[in-house]
Amino acid sequence: MTAKIIDGKETAAQMREELKQQVAQLTAGGVRPGLAVVLVGEDPASKSYVTAKEKACEEIGIYSSDNRLPADTSEKDLLALVEKLNRDPRIHGILVQLPLPKHIDESKVLLAIDPDKDVDGFHPVNVGRMVVGQEAFLPCTPHGVIQLLLRHKVKLDGAEVVVIGRSNIVGKPVANMLIQKSPTGNATVTICHTRSKHTAEHCRRADIIIAAAGRPNTVTADMVKEGAVVIDVGVNRIEDASRKSGFRLVGDVDFNAVKEKASLITPVPGGVGPMTITMLLYNTVQSAQRKS
Ligand code: GUN
Repeated sequence: MTAKIIDGKETAAQMREELKQQVAQLTAGGVRPGLAVVLVGEDPASKSYVTAKEKACEEIGIYSSDNRLPADTSEKDLLALVEKLNRDPRIHGILVQLPLPKHIDESKVLLAIDPDKDVDGFHPVNVGRMVVGQEAFLPCTPHGVIQLLLRHKVKLDGAEVVVIGRSNIVGKPVANMLIQKSPTGNATVTICHTRSKHTAEHCRRADIIIAAAGRPNTVTADMVKEGAVVIDVGVNRIEDASRKSGFRLVGDVDFNAVKEKASLITPVPGGVGPMTITMLLYNTVQSAQRKS
């Protein structure tokens, strides 16, 4: 079997078109959704993520507030900015780009964000709401994975899913969403990680594999059941002298071999990646809707 390749850019574009219409309606009703992005320092990857987030806001009509601070900004000044944004009625979502410089306590900053403006879904209040099945801002990458599955008609109800990776940003939340008693869940989930002993065996039984390990070739063809769905959340830079940049991006899955066994597969880049920013826009629109 040769897999159909899930085009994340296409699904993201469809969702952004839907969101654009919701933004227009909200704006006409006097509530223009607003997102504040905060970047501390000069990390090149973070700078390009933040620029992409602001551009995406502009494209669908969301008001975007750009807050770029020098690397030596004190924790106190950053907390004061977060407090100011918490009180600003034009702002429905606050995103503090991670990682923060080492002298700043990341968890203290995340805790300072009003949970009702926490469009990243990283605040423990939102994590707790998600786990107990209450309405919550869902973290963007795992929510993007679920949307890709749903919009490609992948059956989750009763499906055997293996998640590889136990990070707070992807592995733990995606596993949690998939076990919820809801049409977007109802799956049987196994989480494998660096200390798991039988990852390959677990994977071979899976209807759906979600790879979020952060290591190239974590999923090889011998680990994949014929006809399985494979979602690759990995983004790894590997050296490539033929590229001007000197590197290229690969996921966690041995794409060329696995696509010959899977029924559906996401590429890297162009799979899960484009969905992440889209779900940030989605959360910002949801937050504004609550205020309208
Ligand atoms: N750094 C890398 N990914 C993310 C993300 O999704 N949100 C934030 N705030 N920082 C990040």
